[in-house]
Amino acid sequence: MSAERRRPLIAANWKMNLLKADAAEYCRDLRRGLAAATATGEVDARVVIFPSFPLIPVVARELVDSEVEVGGQDLHPEERGAHTGDVSASQLADAGCTWVLCGHSERRQNHGESDEWVGLKVAAAARHRQLSPLICVGETRAERQEGRTFEVLARQLLAALAGGPGPFALAYEPVWAIGTGETATPEIAQEAHRFLRQRITEELGEVTAAAVPILYGGSVTPDNAASLIAQPDIDGFLVGGASLDPQKFLAIIRCSG
Ligand code: PGA
Repeated sequence: MSAERRRPLIAANWKMNLLKADAAEYCRDLRRGLAAATATGEVDARVVIFPSFPLIPVVARELVDSEVEVGGQDLHPEERGAHTGDVSASQLADAGCTWVLCGHSERRQNHGESDEWVGLKVAAAARHRQLSPLICVGETRAERQEGRTFEVLARQLLAALAGGPGPFALAYEPVWAIGTGETATPEIAQEAHRFLRQRITEELGEVTAAAVPILYGGSVTPDNAASLIAQPDIDGFLVGGASLDPQKFLAIIRCSG
């Protein structure tokens, strides 16, 4: 793969947690901690926070003029209309987002989102040039045990890219590792990341594949982050549980250098 190291991308997926006051305090702690780590040259990473929708304005305000970016946890493929409870790409961008999660396994499993539906969301984000999709893929425990991991990853990836994605990032999140405390070993994660980069090469060419950040997600902590990011195709993390504590999230960012 490319000789040049891709700049690490470290993302916090807050899921349905925190209230406005906690979110504001978190952002102040994160800003302070990141400024200190960046000043010493300890860290050179891109950092994104994915708060739930009502918290986006608070986070965007607290992080204004910082390098930290904000993203939505989901979007609807259409621009407007009768879609109660949904948000559009324009609304996310208007609120200050530059990223959006597409196809998180909790959306696929709990809201019945199909691969095709995820592809429409990715295309909607791409049409809105200001938003980069962070596409989530990953196999369930049963699929891994049945030896179907690569088949599932390829299917989810190709459907997500079907609409022509523009710039995007990918997160490999094995469903069996999300919120379970059971992290994929660095070898298992690297094997999946290498496979995904290879498939991106076949679809979009080597230059694009070499530039796409592929994040690992699933029970990432300050204790396992360093050995995961040491793998050649692991370019960062999508962190759930451990991202709710700014000091733990900062420790994970520091591990990524
Ligand atoms: P986790 O969640 O870090 O709590 O396992 C990761 C995710 O769902 O993005």
